[in-house]
Amino acid sequence: MKICVVGTGYVGLVSGACFSEFGFHVTCVDKDAGIVARLERDEIPIYEPGLDDLVHKNRVAGRLDFTTNLANSVKDADAVFIAVGTPSRRGDGAADLVFVESAAREIAANLSGFTVIVTKSTVPVGTARHIERIVRETSPEADFAMASNPEFLREGSAIEDFMRPDRVVVGVEDERARDILARLYRPLSLRDAPVLFTGLESAELIKYAGNGFLATKIAFINQIADLCEAVDADVQDVAKGIGLDGRIGAKFLHPGPGFGGSCFPKDTRALSVIAREAGAPMSLVDAVIASNDARKQAMAKRIIAALGGDARGKRIGILGVSFKPNTDDMRESPSLDIIPHLMEAGADIRAFDPAAMERAAEMLPGVDWQEDSYTVAKGADCLVILTEWNEFRALDLNKLSAIMKRPLLIDLRNIYTLEEIAPTPFTYHSIGRPAALRD
Ligand code: UDX
Repeated sequence: MKICVVGTGYVGLVSGACFSEFGFHVTCVDKDAGIVARLERDEIPIYEPGLDDLVHKNRVAGRLDFTTNLANSVKDADAVFIAVGTPSRRGDGAADLVFVESAAREIAANLSGFTVIVTKSTVPVGTARHIERIVRETSPEADFAMASNPEFLREGSAIEDFMRPDRVVVGVEDERARDILARLYRPLSLRDAPVLFTGLESAELIKYAGNGFLATKIAFINQIADLCEAVDADVQDVAKGIGLDGRIGAKFLHPGPGFGGSCFPKDTRALSVIAREAGAPMSLVDAVIASNDARKQAMAKRIIAALGGDARGKRIGILGVSFKPNTDDMRESPSLDIIPHLMEAGADIRAFDPAAMERAAEMLPGVDWQEDSYTVAKGADCLVILTEWNEFRALDLNKLSAIMKRPLLIDLRNIYTLEEIAPTPFTYHSIGRPAALRD
């Protein structure tokens, strides 16, 4: 069985490498010769733990190739995965399909023998049928069928998510195509991962509905955190208390500065557009988007308030700028809203992130980047934890407070407990905790 993966971005590269690990022969195609050359030297353009070893191992074993030649790899393939980007379209936030459509045309022109074309990129409901029409128009004689196989990979644990998924979703309506996909995912079904076969539209909607629901959970706990502060409750206890209800579940109930990343913001906006265009608007999703946007601004205001209401001339140290730990991904990171807000208010920003500084530097001009947490803290009026990297969980708080101008710690991820803070000189602000524990 031969697989061709079009697009060596995050999803394409992880999926391609994992399928090759199952023993299939995978060719990953990218238009960018520079990226292909780097991948052939085992240089991985993204930060994903374990991916470099997986790529190296399977490349050396001859199961994983990289090329710019789409034509040849499509001709040989039993399954072609489309894993190109679907950025948010400017203006309305709908997913932009230009890359998907052009990949579909190129694939169509090179099909040979029965091939299943699989959309792996997150695409609006109806895209698989749209691609089917494009392929038919381009190559009326082609023998192919469509499938939709959304990914549920979290950055930082993408390989584990691929290898040990909660479920695999495959939208497919053709028996031959279904058989190919079932064979591809057999190694996972042997490990008891449920493989759910659905129609094309349902599979496409499962991805959006799943991400929309998780984003709603986060937005909900963030609003509960605000309420906890107002009524002197502790959001950690409330999250635990509701999470123990099996119908709710404990995951994705961590309050924070708002969700970011490449999926939740983009997918909630796209879901909103899909629903509106289908005549079934989702006011819940619209409210989640609005409350998440507002939250990032509210966090910046909270930092300024902790500084006494005036950030002018104050030095603020920021720990973590990536949208979550274990990634250098800056896409829609709350730091991109919070830091500029603080700078506009007149603050001087020093920051450190274990992986994202190179990417962040061009997106956050004017920030003074440092090599570690302690140099960030030196002379600072306050220290703000924006991302819960492990290395921020065990800082020497006495050492930190001694080198700061003022010992003020604003923990927007609640990674410290009051017991840990109490013996230190820090004034500590966290979120969703009773006033006594908060500041
Ligand atoms: C997400 C989905 O989890 C994955 O299934 C999907 O396919 C892609 O999008 P990812 O964006 O990598 O994965 O990260 P995730 O761990 O889900 O976190 C997303 C954002 O939500 C981050 O900004 C994170 O800080 C925030 N978050 C997550 C919270 O604020 N609280 C939580 O409880 C969980």
